[in-house]
Amino acid sequence: MFELSATQKQLQATAREFAKKEIAPRAAEIDRSEQYPWENVDLLTKQGFMGMTVPQKYGGPGMSYLDVVLVIEEIAKACGVSARIVVEGNMGAVGAVMKFGSDLQKKIAAEHVLSGDKPAICITEPGAGSAATEMTTRADRKGDRYIINGTKHWITGGGVSRFHLIFARVFENNEPQGIAGFIALRGADGLKVGMREPAMGLRGIPETQIIFEDLEVPQEMVLIPPEGLRHGFAGLMNAYNGQRVGAGTVALGIATGAYELALEYSQQREQFGRPICEFQGLQWMLVDMNTQLEAARLLLQKAAYVSKHGFPDMLEAAQAKIFASETAIKVTNDALQIFGSAGYSRNLPLERMARDARMFTIGGGTAQILRTVVASALLDRKLPQTRDGHFKLAEKKKK
Ligand code: FAD
Ligand code: COA
Repeated sequence: MFELSATQKQLQATAREFAKKEIAPRAAEIDRSEQYPWENVDLLTKQGFMGMTVPQKYGGPGMSYLDVVLVIEEIAKACGVSARIVVEGNMGAVGAVMKFGSDLQKKIAAEHVLSGDKPAICITEPGAGSAATEMTTRADRKGDRYIINGTKHWITGGGVSRFHLIFARVFENNEPQGIAGFIALRGADGLKVGMREPAMGLRGIPETQIIFEDLEVPQEMVLIPPEGLRHGFAGLMNAYNGQRVGAGTVALGIATGAYELALEYSQQREQFGRPICEFQGLQWMLVDMNTQLEAARLLLQKAAYVSKHGFPDMLEAAQAKIFASETAIKVTNDALQIFGSAGYSRNLPLERMARDARMFTIGGGTAQILRTVVASALLDRKLPQTRDGHFKLAEKKKK
């Protein structure tokens, strides 16, 4: 098993103090106003929490995913929105570029995140959510450039992010080549920001459509070519395992924040002439909350720590996200319950935390789809979900 180093413990303590002092005071207002927290972004950038994973060669400190996870949890205790910005400022698209990108692509990505840009990842489409491989956004090769057309939705940071990693299906002479990853910047002709979703929680980050209308991307901004029919996509998903660990950690942090408030309140609030923590019914709730959070933390830290191929492992990332996201829903609701009517009031952060935590069994791969991913790894076999998938697989085996 692993142990946090003295430097990591110090990093964790610094992030905790920073989150309490700088991030927590604005969390309620961010939720109420539904405005992107530029002030927090500025503070996070100055504190060095954006671009932590960028290698020294590109101006970053080259820290590990485990270091980032420690910071994310502390920020999320105070504000889920700000923690999600830290996830995308260090994992997901940045991770993919730092692993697969050219020198130029790495420089561009590093410049963006180190100056506070939260990259956007564009995978999901109205007709292709869990079934991401059924995306219809297409990139037609025209000599040394690609012309992209299609619509993505639920893109976190639409309209505020500058750096975009776009997944699209490549065609050459109208022949499908598989899925590849492209880099484009907001402001490029043909990259349009569409409707914003009225989201339940995490309201300070816009979730929008991103529409591509003849967006031109030069060959040098192709992050991973399709490499046959599937492999480009597989490489990109490998990088996405890091994002899943990050998202799971935001869920963990939000829930830990709610738990800590409930633990304190249970010792202050009196009913029947005694603090409510003296009732065994609540003691057992607190014990279960604490135990589940600790288990989620260990799964996430292990997934971040055991980084095969430079990214968290697919199986470990999926297991950790399933457990952390489901735990977060339960723990935030139990924390709210311990506050009674006060928990249901918008004057306290519990209802916001319960709304914010709700997203993590959906975004970044649903808890159901991730179970399929885990099953596929445990059974070491393909588990096609399309109606004709088993038939296609059998045909392929025959050949
Ligand atoms: P569907 O795929 O339509 O699923 C509907 C239901 O069916 C779910 O319960 C699902 O689990 C279940 N289901 C589907 N297939 C199966 C199966 N084979 N077995 C069992 N159950 C199944 N996408 C991006 O590309 N970039 C982003 O930045 C981004 N940010 C997001 C932020 C938020 C807040 C949210 C809510 C979503 C975000 N997404 C983003 C989209 C997200 O990844 C998708 O919502 C997710 O992959 C599920 O797709 P869907 O919503 O279309 O649900
Ligand atoms: N890590 C590494 N590789 C992965 C992966 C992951 N998390 N998920 C898929 N792959 C690889 C597969 O191993 C496969 O590679 P191979 O062809 O070399 O064997 C390839 O990618 C295609 O995956 P497969 O499971 O065969 O695709 P599918 O058509 O059944 O689609 C997914 C299933 C991958 C789309 C589905 O499991 C999934 O993850 N859906 C959620 C999408 C998501 O997270 N969206 C978030 C947007 S923010």
